[in-house]
Order: sequence, then structure tokens, then C-alpha cells
Amino acid sequence: MTSKSIDYSGLTFRRDYFGDRKAWQALVDLLKDTFGIDIGPLQQMGGPDPSSMPFCWFASDGQLAANLSAFAMPLVIDGRTVNAAAFQSGAVRPPWRGRGLCRDLTHKALAWCEEKGFEAVVLYTDKPGLYEPYGFCALPFHCHVGKAPVSSKAELPARRLNPLEPADLKLLRAALKTRVPVSDVLAVRESAAMFLINTQLDPGVMLSWLEREQTAVAWKMETPGHLTLLDVVGPEIPSLASIIGALDIDVTTVDVLFSPDKLGWSGQAKPVDSHTHFMIRSAGATAFAHPAMLSPMADF
Ligand SMILES: CC(C)(COP(=O)(O)OP(=O)(O)OC[C@H]1O[C@@H](n2cnc3c(N)ncnc32)[C@H](O)[C@@H]1OP(=O)(O)O)[C@@H](O)C(=O)NCCC(=O)NCCS
Repeated sequence: MTSKSIDYSGLTFRRDYFGDRKAWQALVDLLKDTFGIDIGPLQQMGGPDPSSMPFCWFASDGQLAANLSAFAMPLVIDGRTVNAAAFQSGAVRPPWRGRGLCRDLTHKALAWCEEKGFEAVVLYTDKPGLYEPYGFCALPFHCHVGKAPVSSKAELPARRLNPLEPADLKLLRAALKTRVPVSDVLAVRESAAMFLINTQLDPGVMLSWLEREQTAVAWKMETPGHLTLLDVVGPEIPSLASIIGALDIDVTTVDVLFSPDKLGWSGQAKPVDSHTHFMIRSAGATAFAHPAMLSPMADF
């Protein structure tokens, strides 16, 4: 793909700048201004994914004019580990839009992925048309809904985790490092940084620790009796019945926001209606064998 000529005057290209605190803060500001999200707390939680490779153009006033970050995000897709990279934090400040900066950074990030030998690249976007010219295609997500399984209270009920407490953070980080994928249909293999920052971006997410199973469960209960299960992080995936028993909650219906193939429960697949699309660029198959969804705790 050829790059059309761009006027770079007043701009400085940088990559791999996360070690520079001032430059990192410029990214925090860009994402706050563009998407209204604050990734600042990530620094207290172990920092960005260590594989991150950000590409950007800085303006002369120290502001970030444009950014696109890539990082390694190994996935399990249909039972196979896929050495995937992910793109995130794609944004251009309004005065710098329309002059090809996004295109330029996309080319640079894709070249890095090829150089590193990633077999796929994934991203989320509300503008699929922006990425289709580069060979990305959108894959629809399905959640699973159904009646709660019969469960009995666990002898040892789960306790709540607070990832901003050092002891809980340590526990959680260790569990994220050794986790098994929550599904064999579609799941991240690790992606600890994303899980941790997502606990802060959505205040509705509750985290519980199952001591016996050494497992963390991310969940919500926005309506009494209705459980939304977001993710399970542990050395094995407990059944949905034992998770509910350990959470010690009264549940009649459940939404599972990942493929429930390891939960001993099936539910019914339901298309997810979202303004953001999950896209993949890969030489292999570009459809899931079964209805699938990446846990929202892996959102990036
Ligand atoms: C979307 C955004 C990144 C585009 O940045 P930009 O630097 O203005 O884009 P470019 O000038 O490099 O344009 C690259 C191409 O994308 C196209 N494009 C730009 N905005 C687009 C949009 N909203 N939808 C579809 N295509 C778009 C351009 O027409 C151009 O096409 P061409 O290569 O055929 O000429 C920028 O508008 C932005 O930051 N928006 C808010 C945040 C956002 O939406 N981020 C991306 C989604 S993850």
C-alpha cells in the first residue's frame, strides 16, 4: 500500500515512548480528550502491557497529535493459540485530522506486526470503514443467555477483591499470569494490563476471589436475580453452578459475556448489539466456528 504525501511540519515522529513519563501523560490526555476514558490508573497497576509498541506524532507544544499503539495479544480461537497483535488508542486530535496521520500510523503499526511475525491483528472500532482497506474484517459477537443452573452455597464464600489494594492486586496479577483461557472458542491467553484497567474503567464491575479455586470472577448484578458473568481468571474454570454457589447470590437468569464452553452450562447464543466492532486481519479463517465473544475484561 502506498502512503500519500503528508505535511509533517511541526510534528515529530516517536515510537516506543512509554518509558518517558511526560510522553505517557500526553497519551493519557489524548485518550481523555478523544474518548473520555482515563488510563492513568494503569501506572499503579503494573503499567501498560510490556509488549506495547506505540507509534505517534508529537506536536511542538508537547501534545500528542496522533497515536496508534500495538501490543501482543495471544488469543485462543477455535481451540488454537493465535499469535495475534492488537491495535488500540488510535486517535488524532481534531486540528490534525484529515491529513493522513491515521493512515501513516496504521502503515507503521502494520509493518511492525509483519516484522514481528504476528499471524493476526485485532482491534475494536466504531468505524469499520477506516480499517477495511487494510484487510480487517468485522466478526460479530454473541453472548449467551439462559436460566441459572441449580447451585448450592459454597462452604467458603467468595470475598470481594479491590485491585487498588496492594495485596489484592498481587493476588490478581499472579492469577492473570497463570490463568487458563476462559474459553476454547475465543479468549485471551493473558492480557493482564487490559483486565486490570477494565476493572477501573467500569465502576459496575465486581471482582470476587474464590479461595479454594484460587480464581477471580468478574461479574455484575444490575438487576436483582440477573447475573452478568464477565470473566473467570484461574488455573481451571469452575462450573457456573459452583461460581454462583461461591458468590452466594440468588440468581434466576444469567448472561455470560464469553463463550461458556468450560462452564458446564450452555445458555442460548444472542447477537451482541454494540456500536463497536471487533475486527481481525488474518490470512486464516475469518469466522468463528461457534458463536463467540471476547470477555469485556479483555476490551482494549
Ligand atoms: C478516525 C481518526 C483516527 C482519523 O484520523 P485522520 O488522521 O483524520 O485520518 P486520515 O487523514 O489518516 O485518513 C485515513 C483514511 O481514513 C479515512 N477516514 C477518516 N475518518 C474516517 C471515518 N470516520 N470513517 C471512515 N473512514 C475515515 C480517510 O478518508 C482516509 O481515507 P484514504 O486513505 O482513502 O484517503 C480521527 O478522526 C479520530 O481520532 N477520531 C476520533 C477517535 C476515533 O474514532 N478513533 C478511531 C477509531 S478506533
